[in-house]
Amino acid sequence: MSRSAHPAGPRHADVLPEGRSAGSTAPPADLNALDPRVWAQTVRRTPEGAVTVGGIDVRKLAHEFGTPAYVLDETDFRARCRAWRDAFGADADVFYAGKAFLCRAVVRWLHEEGLNLDVCSGGELATALGAGMPAERIALHGNNKSQDEIERAVGAGVGRIVLDSFQEIVRVAHTAARLGVRQRVQLRVTVGVEAHTHEFIATAHEDQKFGLALAEGQAAEAVRRVLQLDSLELTGIHSHIGSQIFDMAGFEVSARRVVGLLAEVRDEHGIELPEIDLGGGLGIAYTSEDDPAEPHDIAKALRDIVTRECEGAALAVPRLSVEPGRAIVGPTAFTLYEVGTLKELEGLRTYVSVDGGMSDNIRTALYDAEYSVALVSRSSPAPPMLSRVVGKHCESGDIVVRDAFLPADLGPGDLLAVPATGAYCRSMASNYNHALRPPVVAVRDGAARVIVRRETEEDLLRLDVG
Ligand SMILES: Cc1ncc(COP(=O)(O)O)c(C=O)c1O
Repeated sequence: MSRSAHPAGPRHADVLPEGRSAGSTAPPADLNALDPRVWAQTVRRTPEGAVTVGGIDVRKLAHEFGTPAYVLDETDFRARCRAWRDAFGADADVFYAGKAFLCRAVVRWLHEEGLNLDVCSGGELATALGAGMPAERIALHGNNKSQDEIERAVGAGVGRIVLDSFQEIVRVAHTAARLGVRQRVQLRVTVGVEAHTHEFIATAHEDQKFGLALAEGQAAEAVRRVLQLDSLELTGIHSHIGSQIFDMAGFEVSARRVVGLLAEVRDEHGIELPEIDLGGGLGIAYTSEDDPAEPHDIAKALRDIVTRECEGAALAVPRLSVEPGRAIVGPTAFTLYEVGTLKELEGLRTYVSVDGGMSDNIRTALYDAEYSVALVSRSSPAPPMLSRVVGKHCESGDIVVRDAFLPADLGPGDLLAVPATGAYCRSMASNYNHALRPPVVAVRDGAARVIVRRETEEDLLRLDVG
């Protein structure tokens, strides 16, 4: 890994090809600036130029742990846990959605910071229980839970199982009866709302795999069936409407429709279910264009929506739960890469190849997600160069950052960091091209430690038993 800066070449272009946006169409005023809304809390650029996180220079992290690596700011993670916990207060529950990123250290932090945990597989459940999360603070999700997952969850005494189908109602009820327990459950309903960033689509029904539809009375029928089963305790209704949501309008419709069902249950069965879970999906800033809401504003908005709807239905206000994943872990990590090669396409852009790619961040390729990127091993006075940061995989779609401005003196050996990769990156990482999944390095108060180690070829070959 070389540290040398490269002479400023005529490689810079500061306009984007037609129709593309790099977060913004024009280069940022200061290429070395790090937007605090996009980068983790303790990330700083030193006067000398290199970037530090938790007080540690990224060059030292790269030297000690290698690249690519996910660098997670533990201080920021814990602060976000507290912000959500405090925003929702003691009369509500915040479940961190483990699918965003989960490992034993994260489970311990969640436990210590007073959050609950939403898991959606046997593997996540094992990680949660193995790292000491009390079972009653765990919720099990999933649209097709295996009998083994149900067995282990009921056996462990998880606080909540979110039922997703008629078959599951029977499976969980039988398992609970056999184990002699009364399992607390919620019903996941589809409310006909699909929300993403600033839009939401409210329809009568939804063409998707999750939940029991409000439309055609499926959800009401599911309530009837659960209430007839002694081994199940129906505590509430769950709805999750989408991801990377910035606008509360979708939650408004979702809450109204869920409260509508709660009123139906009261009218038909004379029962007021004590809980409502509005899921996760709150957005984060991936680029300076994004403007996510703060937990306090989200909590107030959701609480007001639910209270208003319940007053309208003359219902007692149920206990509110939410399940943020991305909004807690997303901003707390960045991925550290080393630049390997640069390829300028005259009048188009410069391809900057790094030592990772779609195997450590599939979101750009899978969802056309936008990311930011910055040179972090030094600062640079060089003019902006329109760049595409790509990986080392044999796949033209192997793009990490589609359009970004980087200093024109960028060269092999420089370190780049892509912020806001805490969520749905390591958790969706793969071994495509037999790539080795990078480590997760947690930093806090000048100390760095590996919380998920780098995969080795031995790890890969251990599975290769042919
Ligand atoms: C049921 C449920 N809850 C919570 C989440 C977390 O969503 P996010 O990470 O966008 O907050 C998801 C994500 O898919 C989900 O399916």
